Amino acid sequence: MLDPKAIVTIDGPSGAGKSTISRGLAAKLNFTYLDTGAMYRAVGLALEKQGLDLADTTALEKCLDTIELSLLPNGDDDVLVRLNGEDVSQAIRTPEMGLVASRVSAHPLVREKLTALQRQIGERGGIVAEGRDMGTVVFPKAACKFFLTASGEERARRRQAQLAEKGQTVGLQEILDQISKRDYDDSRRQLAPLKPAVDAIIVDSSSMGPEAIIDCMLASIAKAVC
Ligand code: DC
Repeated sequence: MLDPKAIVTIDGPSGAGKSTISRGLAAKLNFTYLDTGAMYRAVGLALEKQGLDLADTTALEKCLDTIELSLLPNGDDDVLVRLNGEDVSQAIRTPEMGLVASRVSAHPLVREKLTALQRQIGERGGIVAEGRDMGTVVFPKAACKFFLTASGEERARRRQAQLAEKGQTVGLQEILDQISKRDYDDSRRQLAPLKPAVDAIIVDSSSMGPEAIIDCMLASIAKAVC
């Protein structure tokens, strides 16, 4: 049996289906789903709104100190994200905000702030944490670690469908270019780069539906902890 206070991590590149899988797995385990990408997106939005220059570390530190971030479950939908009291759940989900989040996420002060916040949330346990560095940096002692991946084309198609559901029409090539750039930048940055933890189970979701992937993860969890 998985300890109800355990932490399960799911890292991987953009559009691999991490959110759907993490939310679904959390529901099956009766765990809380932690969407750390949403945190980077919200901080990116806050810094953009202030027109802050990332090189101005004094101003950045001050701004990060005043940011109030809350994440609440939202049924089958993306988490409800509040930034300084304002609902930014929709505003952070654009492809542009993905790129902004990727850019700000390379900054040491931003990572320091969000890593601390994520560990604080993780203290209560019973969490499925999704991101890029959950298994490598934030929760290195997690009970079970997954690295979810899929081919670039498949990931672009999925992202396009997700955006279409939200009424956003974006060309496939444009999405492919954006996710390729993001993955390139996220994997090459110095701090907490996107990569599988040495003890992560790699899951390729290219030709598997969400239910099958979740079942496969549940089987791995049972094997890892029994
Ligand atoms: O998962 P996402 O697409 O919402 O993430 C947006 C960006 O945030 C991603 O390109 C890199 C950054 N990120 C990160 O650096 N570390 C995490 N744990 C989660 C996201």
